[in-house]
Amino acid sequence: MSLRDHRVTTTLFELAKEARSFSIRDLYANDPQRATRFRLCAPGYTYFYATQLINQEILSYLFDLARACGVEEMRGELFSGRHVNSTEDRPALHSALRLPPTATLEVGGVTVVEEVHEVLDKMAGLAKQVRSGKWRGYSGKKIRAVVNIGIGGSDLGPAMAAIALKAFSTPTLSTHYVSNVDPTDMATTLRTLDPERTLFIVASKTFTTIETLTNAEIARSWLLRSAKDKKAVSRHFVAVSSAPEKVEAFGIDPQNRFDMWDWVGGRYSMDSAIGLSTMIAIGPKAFNELLRGFYAMDQHFQNTPMEENLCMVMGLLGVWNATFLGADCVGVLPYAQALSRFPAYLQQLTMESNGKRVSKDGRVVDYQTGPVYFGEPGTNGQHSFYQLLHQGTRFVPLDLIGYAKNAHPIGESNDLLIANLIAQSHAFAFGRTRDEAALEGGGSSLALHREMPGNRPHSVFFAEALTPSSLGSLIAAYEHSVFVQGVIWNINSFDQFGVEMGKKVAAIIAPQLSAPLAHDVNHDPSSDALIALARKWRDENR
Ligand code: F6P
Repeated sequence: MSLRDHRVTTTLFELAKEARSFSIRDLYANDPQRATRFRLCAPGYTYFYATQLINQEILSYLFDLARACGVEEMRGELFSGRHVNSTEDRPALHSALRLPPTATLEVGGVTVVEEVHEVLDKMAGLAKQVRSGKWRGYSGKKIRAVVNIGIGGSDLGPAMAAIALKAFSTPTLSTHYVSNVDPTDMATTLRTLDPERTLFIVASKTFTTIETLTNAEIARSWLLRSAKDKKAVSRHFVAVSSAPEKVEAFGIDPQNRFDMWDWVGGRYSMDSAIGLSTMIAIGPKAFNELLRGFYAMDQHFQNTPMEENLCMVMGLLGVWNATFLGADCVGVLPYAQALSRFPAYLQQLTMESNGKRVSKDGRVVDYQTGPVYFGEPGTNGQHSFYQLLHQGTRFVPLDLIGYAKNAHPIGESNDLLIANLIAQSHAFAFGRTRDEAALEGGGSSLALHREMPGNRPHSVFFAEALTPSSLGSLIAAYEHSVFVQGVIWNINSFDQFGVEMGKKVAAIIAPQLSAPLAHDVNHDPSSDALIALARKWRDENR
């Protein structure tokens, strides 16, 4: 059934016409309870959403829409392991990755929780050995650096967590993330490392991803140039993958492979063995806290009534802004330097999941689905692109994220940081009228330039501190809000066919680039010209 087939959709499109010109000042003035009415508590976070372009009537219709689309039923299917990934005919069971060992879940005759905990225990075994110095390199030296080689979901989650949880990481080990097939990425990473003390994690669910395999081969050659004996590979390479034969063919000891399952999508996998580098950095206990944070949000999503449910409300506000109000983008603004890679992580989670135009029943949709996500930490973004957010012509809904305490409590800096978050939230919502601008300086001649229109819809996630647990809860909240949106848009949030064509064409072009200049290529006139120029410039003055 299309989104348009629900009667409430027509009503929401009508309400959206008025909402685009809502004055947030008036909404607050007319409803003294607004700030508390549109606020909710979820594990770790208080979520403020009174600064969205909504009222109680709109919100009620959005809940009706969620019910009409069967979001609650689909949530049940998601958690129970039904094949919600319809195009690939499999479950999307990332929630099973954080079930406690006492939970039971059987899917297709497999006791999922047992398998998950077997892998977690195996990860903990390696993490303890590396952290304690028991795991030695080929020359008997302790490991000092861990390099995760992976891309997309096999990189972005752990790379983001490495920065987010640095304050919880052991100082005796450094972690590095190489993803790009651009040789600069690997070369600049290896430049600082000692092969005798470096452990590589080759993270690839399929173990077919060309960027990852190319980089893994470069790393292996680098190790062997120093070790001069292939046996060293087993002391310096482990793999995270669901493809045992491919891992073995690469030369990695089968004992050193950490399993994944086809029911975990790459972008939903940072709490699987893909998080091995995270566990080595922060230790098994803190990793368990991360999982508990995910699990607390899973429970909240599953058991809290829709009106008080963070993941539902977030998801519905996302649909309201993107589909009904027509926003093309969402800005994610964490007031936490530790979350500097969080927007990049969210880009994959949101856009690879909901960047779809064909419905589950095989029709091209006639409404807007997932928006573009971008972001930077505050306060840095304030000195960069906030000008457009405040005074530009675009309509850009925002998520602001902040923490009252800092892992590095130096002076008054964190209060200043949070003061900026609150100030920006105020400015986005309430703006500054032309008269106020004239009074504040510059006189009437500049008043129009200085006027701040306000009415920039946004929500604020606020928590006490960024910890493994609150990071897990934050990620799970986004995962589930993406799911809610996918159900309402009637698209499959768990496939990613759009990434395939480029990979295939690159595999054809790569050997053509390496071929001699005279070799014929025949793609299209522009691609052929680029290939010719790339060969020419590469070979000139060689
Ligand atoms: O290119 C898209 C993708 O398939 C992502 O969905 C995935 O996270 C990434 O590639 C890496 O895949 P793998 O873990 O199999 O190397």
